[in-house]
Amino acid sequence: MWPTSSTSNNAGAALPPRPVLDAVTGHLAREAAIGGYEAAAEAAERLADVYDAVATLIGARPDEIAVVENATRAWDMAFYAVPFRAGDRVITARAEYLSNYLAFLQMKARVGIEIDVVDSDASGQIDLAALEHAIGPRTKLIAITHVPGRGGLVNPAADVGRIAERHGLLYLLDACQSVGQLAVNVRPIGCHMLSAAGRKYLRGPRGTGFLYVRRDTIGRLEPPFVDLHAATLTDADTYVVRDDARRFENWERYIAGQIGLGVAARYALKIGIDAIEARSKRSVRCYGASSRSDPA
Ligand SMILES: Cc1ncc(COP(=O)(O)O)c(C=O)c1O
Repeated sequence: MWPTSSTSNNAGAALPPRPVLDAVTGHLAREAAIGGYEAAAEAAERLADVYDAVATLIGARPDEIAVVENATRAWDMAFYAVPFRAGDRVITARAEYLSNYLAFLQMKARVGIEIDVVDSDASGQIDLAALEHAIGPRTKLIAITHVPGRGGLVNPAADVGRIAERHGLLYLLDACQSVGQLAVNVRPIGCHMLSAAGRKYLRGPRGTGFLYVRRDTIGRLEPPFVDLHAATLTDADTYVVRDDARRFENWERYIAGQIGLGVAARYALKIGIDAIEARSKRSVRCYGASSRSDPA
């Protein structure tokens, strides 16, 4: 029998549903038969649909989506694109994902930013009053994790978005564990950037992830590195960076996985993200997860 999602470790790497598996293996077979570039050209429509499907899933536009290798790389492409200067401050929460915190430390060592870690409230969520209190004139970014990998905590992402908006701050949301599990819509959340993985609750292939960057924010963020996909050489000394979120992508990619990611997003949309969220919440009640703010 084909296993259901409830038997898999979705917080680690979920069991892909049959349509995802078929899409990936089907494309790999075409690559073996006719060549990688030829197979990609043949699959142009399915590749384009990945952006539509992922955008629909999170309430974004296709040109606000970059498809990358994993959630960490998606987050990195956003974080390292922020033009930090010495003395700028980043606010985060207790339950921030470790790789993200390492990046804060690297930027602190490299550029001289400061990190403000906001305490949790009694429920384990980020304390919103403490967050508001931590904001100062040099605060540049709020970066938090929506749902850590363990413990059952769900941070109030939209409340944080309203605070970021009120203070005119950039807001980066790590939605690695929430996309595909909960109804995540970037508009009511109000984040400027959101990162997610394919292989977790979306049940897509490993080696896939995506970044959302709000349309009005894309031009403010120069990617940390560019290649001939992200930018065009205009003469020997100049280049222009493309003006959609695909400036955060790179040229060579796991095409079969990308197609599988699109199929996974369509699969989730077909079931209905509200139905998935309701089912996830029932499972949490069954297995008795708590709202502790364990490290992500
Ligand atoms: C909250 C959170 N963010 C980011 C990541 C990293 O995702 P990836 O392994 O796809 O880079 C994880 C992985 O477990 C995670 O739990």
